[in-house]
Amino acid sequence: MSRSNAKSPYRARTLAVHGGTVRSQFGETSEAMFLTSGYVYDSAEAAEARFKGEDDGFIYSRFANPTVRMFEERMIALEGADDARATATGMAAVTASMLCQLSTGDHVVAAKALFGSCRYIIEDLLPRFGVTCTLIDGTDLDAWADAVQPNTRVFFLETPSNPTLEIIDLKGVADIAHKAGAKLVVDNVFATPVLQRPMEFGADIVVYSATKHIDGQGRCLGGIVLGPQEFIDDHLANFLRQTGPSLSPFNAWVMLKSLETLDLRVREHARNARCVAQALEASSKIVRTLYPGLASHPQHKLAMAQMELGGNIVAFEIAGGKAAAFRFANALQIVKISNNLGDAKSLITHPATTTHQRLDEATQTELGITEGLLRLSVGLEDPSDLVDDLNRALAAV
Ligand SMILES: Cc1ncc(COP(=O)(O)O)c(C=O)c1O
Repeated sequence: MSRSNAKSPYRARTLAVHGGTVRSQFGETSEAMFLTSGYVYDSAEAAEARFKGEDDGFIYSRFANPTVRMFEERMIALEGADDARATATGMAAVTASMLCQLSTGDHVVAAKALFGSCRYIIEDLLPRFGVTCTLIDGTDLDAWADAVQPNTRVFFLETPSNPTLEIIDLKGVADIAHKAGAKLVVDNVFATPVLQRPMEFGADIVVYSATKHIDGQGRCLGGIVLGPQEFIDDHLANFLRQTGPSLSPFNAWVMLKSLETLDLRVREHARNARCVAQALEASSKIVRTLYPGLASHPQHKLAMAQMELGGNIVAFEIAGGKAAAFRFANALQIVKISNNLGDAKSLITHPATTTHQRLDEATQTELGITEGLLRLSVGLEDPSDLVDDLNRALAAV
């Protein structure tokens, strides 16, 4: 992260270590963990004043908490956003970013290549409340423009997408959204704020599952929504305060400390992933290798224009369908079978039967989620050991 934040004199790597820190009267070096649900007031009058908004102290940890706020402030600094609110999970962040600003009669346009739960929000949940949606091929800019209706309020996308690593032109889509008077919401989980900052390309709102690279060690669930001040003030803050998917202060503390090493970890993850992707591409048993950092990726040029490196996720299709994919995954020793990603440990997933199993066969085929497709979240192990493990498992197929 050598880029600087326009709103700060410091560069992103410095902000990741110091951003948002508020010290107590004890002057602690490491940020304090305020495990408290409530706050006491000096008097009944002080409590009344705080509820009236006449003083900006803390009221209740469902609304705000000092440790959670430090995490939010550090993320704000990294993303270059006006403001942010943390949530209990990434899905709480996605759901809140949509529900807080949409009403019956509104319309959403979204890329169809989405994480299974994100698709559920757009395709199943929103229509139950009278919000219609159009799912399109997100890589086709004309499809975004053609899907716009007079009541379109929000565009939603992931880039790179889960699990097939489609790259969507952030600037192109943001321009179309703004021309239509809509807000662009980007789920930036795969890229992380180290490798891609969607707001620099015009995105209005950015969401993360902090469960992934931000924690980075598979410990805590969390999420965050970042956006313009009026979006937070007029829509998000009150929605979260009243509905309550707040991040626990303990999890916020873990995330806050993890941000100090995010840059180092994400760059090393990406270096490892590139090595692994090259090795997979060279195998005759792999039909297709998708990694945005390789020239063979169909949108490599766009990926490198938006992202600093290719990220840590590699998707690949093994010859022989589901049976071969399962045999391969079961033969791995270092790489573990798990549906999580962004962990120091390398994790492998068979999307068709896990993360994307709720999609019917036709939709899976349309999205390229074939029976032989595997998604590998490359960890921080020695890349030579990872390549050996993958080659050993390939030999078993
Ligand atoms: C792209 C994407 N968005 C959102 C989520 C949801 O995050 P969480 O599991 O923290 O709710 C995930 C989780 O896998 C994801 O991959």
